[in-house]
Amino acid sequence: MASTALLSVTGLTKRYGGVTAVDEVSFDLPAGRVLGLVGPNGAGKTTLVDCIVGTQTPDSGTVHVDGRALPDGPAARARAGLARTFQHPQLALELTPVQNIVPGIVGRSIGSYGASLRALLRGLAGTPRTVLDRAAAVAAEYGVTTDRVPTGSLGLGSQRLVEIARAMAAEPRVLLLDEPFAGSDTEGIAAISHAVHQVREAGHSVVLVDHNVDLIAELADSVVLLADGAVAFTGSPQDCMRSTEMQSVYFGTTEEAR
Ligand SMILES: Nc1ncnc2c1ncn2[C@@H]1O[C@H](COP(=O)(O)OP(=O)(O)OP(=O)(O)O)[C@@H](O)[C@H]1O
Ligand SMILES: [Mg+2]
Repeated sequence: MASTALLSVTGLTKRYGGVTAVDEVSFDLPAGRVLGLVGPNGAGKTTLVDCIVGTQTPDSGTVHVDGRALPDGPAARARAGLARTFQHPQLALELTPVQNIVPGIVGRSIGSYGASLRALLRGLAGTPRTVLDRAAAVAAEYGVTTDRVPTGSLGLGSQRLVEIARAMAAEPRVLLLDEPFAGSDTEGIAAISHAVHQVREAGHSVVLVDHNVDLIAELADSVVLLADGAVAFTGSPQDCMRSTEMQSVYFGTTEEAR
């Protein structure tokens, strides 16, 4: 089953009280491929990403990388090569963009803002110059400013770029991007495309969550459409866009399209 898949998700289910946010989701993502994860608001996209990277514990299901079951928890999964960005950027806003990239270099996973800010501050006290230099080089590569300005002074698109750079600094085997285009300008879109190509060229994989079906169609090799937590359709972007499932999920009577 996992023979050709780099990332293999099997029967993942996550319930919050009476809500089944992710419902028996399975997919295989081969090395060097990009999977677009689409679905309306509340479909379960972020919860699925959270369960894959280990910030949420699923009620059932497994995640394999290269045929190996991943240990629980975000730190172990970061070490296994999973890196992600957040729908709502998780950055230490008082620190510079370069400082925010350091956790990607030193292999620290990013949890919630409060915890990661404290960890960043603790970690930065002893950050060697070489690590900061490497963070600055990654920043430059992704179009992130190396100026000593607070990250909070940047616009949302630029903050998303800092997260892309932080994720790429970890040289991920699987990069998971949660709505990276939301609020991004053309620079941001170019940087995201650059990251996607880099991961692909290294023979690794990308999970790309977004509502922008044009960009998904351009960047993704396959698409998983989620509705009410479950997989409603899976196939090529073209087939997905044309599918009755896509029409009914996005343009049907129960959900509004974005
Ligand atoms: N921490 C939580 N506690 C309770 N319910 C939650 C929690 N996180 C998500 N949910 C619920 O799980 C479902 C899936 O939410 P999720 O945020 O994963 O969807 P999404 O597809 O990412 O939506 P969006 O496009 O708005 O980002 C929703 O019904 C949501 O209300
Ligand atoms: Mg979401």
